[in-house]
Amino acid sequence: MNINGSVALITGGGNGIGAAIAQYLSAKGAKIVIVDRSEEQAQASAQAIVASGGLAIAIAADVTKEDDTAAFIAKALEAYGQLNIVVTCAGIIRDGLTISPDKETKKVTRKLGLDKWQQVIDVNLTGTFLTMRDAAEAMANGGWPGLLVGISSVNKVGQVGQINYASTKAAVALMPKILVGEFMLKGIRNIRAVSIAPGYAATSLLQGMNQDALAAILKDVHLGRLVEPSEIASLIAHCAENEAINGTTLEITGGLCYPHAIAK
Ligand SMILES: NC(=O)c1ccc[n+]([C@@H]2O[C@H](COP(=O)([O-])OP(=O)(O)OC[C@H]3O[C@@H](n4cnc5c(N)ncnc54)[C@H](O)[C@@H]3O)[C@@H](O)[C@H]2O)c1
Repeated sequence: MNINGSVALITGGGNGIGAAIAQYLSAKGAKIVIVDRSEEQAQASAQAIVASGGLAIAIAADVTKEDDTAAFIAKALEAYGQLNIVVTCAGIIRDGLTISPDKETKKVTRKLGLDKWQQVIDVNLTGTFLTMRDAAEAMANGGWPGLLVGISSVNKVGQVGQINYASTKAAVALMPKILVGEFMLKGIRNIRAVSIAPGYAATSLLQGMNQDALAAILKDVHLGRLVEPSEIASLIAHCAENEAINGTTLEITGGLCYPHAIAK
């Protein structure tokens, strides 16, 4: 796939990893569609691209709403006439232990609320499904070369305190295999699917994490630092250009190990 001249849509593109992906793909000549729940962030991200000589439009939308995903795919087609790369970066965390007993009485005094469970499922899982489904529909009907990119996480292995988040990221890691199998079944050859599972990257998302837990985790990164959003963006560009990468999930973690140096 040639990134130059292709159209890339990034949900959650107003911030963090999504904004970095948009900038990176723009620098390689892609026309960009920024989708974000925050209109202000979406506009700022698109304007930064335009200011550096690229082409970008901003769309305020909520990926959890079926009408919104259909509308932003339609707007992207209206603006640029095709759709080639779609990255589902919109994601949230709402961490907490499933049950927390009192130290003294040993009786459970706190449970993870259904609201925290549901919000994460809605954005990370349903939002990714709706975006991928509607993007795949447009790509199949249009016949253009297409790449669907899900954003999973290394915490798909089962991070303590993230039963909601880790469950969604395990599911997103599975999606490329399912989608490519379905495309195969139906003779759809123009669309590839991959997911990227980043380790810990320096974005505002990490500010919602327990900072002591984050400091402890960083001690187990072989690289000795957080992953840069631009490094994740460069992997996605490589996936676009290398058509043999398909139906799989790639990790980019800086060498995140379990304590005692067992690779995660
Ligand atoms: N930062 C990390 O260390 C890390 C590691 C692994 C995976 N990830 C994943 O990468 C993705 C991006 O994370 P980030 O760190 O850049 O986060 P971020 O908070 O900086 O950006 C996420 C963006 O998604 C948008 N968003 C949230 N809910 C939305 C909705 N319903 N509809 C549309 N937009 C919505 C937010 O407004 C925000 O602009 C997420 O899926 C996250 O789970 C992040």
